[in-house]
Amino acid sequence: MRKIVKENYQEMCSDICQEIIMTIKTKPDALICIAGGTTPLGVMEQLVLELKSKQIDYSNVKFISLDEWVGISKETPGSCLETLDTNLFSKLHLKDEQVIFFDGKAKDLNNECLKMNKELAMFGPIDIIILGIGMNGHIGFNEPGVDVNLDAHIVDLDDTTKQVMGKYFKEQIQLEKGISLGFRQIKAARKIIVMANGEHKKTIVNKVLTSTPDVKIPATILKDVDNCTLIIDKQANGE
Ligand code: PGA
Repeated sequence: MRKIVKENYQEMCSDICQEIIMTIKTKPDALICIAGGTTPLGVMEQLVLELKSKQIDYSNVKFISLDEWVGISKETPGSCLETLDTNLFSKLHLKDEQVIFFDGKAKDLNNECLKMNKELAMFGPIDIIILGIGMNGHIGFNEPGVDVNLDAHIVDLDDTTKQVMGKYFKEQIQLEKGISLGFRQIKAARKIIVMANGEHKKTIVNKVLTSTPDVKIPATILKDVDNCTLIIDKQANGE
């Protein structure tokens, strides 16, 4: 994992957006994964502008889901799918077949995992994946203590995740489980970008940077991955 510190959030997002554009230009049918959290929102905004203003052909690109809260889906503002749909997919007018997503409301969640594993076996590996870091170091819903050899799987949410989840939803909802791509699939991506910004991420970023790979801080699992870059702003840097 290499570390890059940018002056501010805008610059981080701009660099990451350019990486995605480059991926699409070199591989017009690229498979792209962007986390449905708060951190990549600026990337989504710039990506919509760039793709449209530069008239880049993204008609064969596919976007694949990183994770979803179990029990909710697109109709719940703040779900991963709703976040991506509102800020990216609908603005790009993507065709249905360009979006491969976990259905958090699926009756058979094991089947939902199998579905995603099959999609990745068919269209993968992911060409570029943009990840955030949770306050507990989670990546997607790969929570502390995760088995790093898993593919898509169902997760009991960690206490920290349950504490911070309120920031995503207008209404108070309590969710207990998530569904997520596993580290095996994330590590197989051709390019991995982990992003973190703001003062509130400084402590966890510092823990990631100073710890050896340890499942207790899931983001550290990416430290020995060559094609992984951590991009942070000045506020998230150092302790
Ligand atoms: P955030 O979430 O981007 O909303 O801060 C990161 C994460 O929990 O993975």
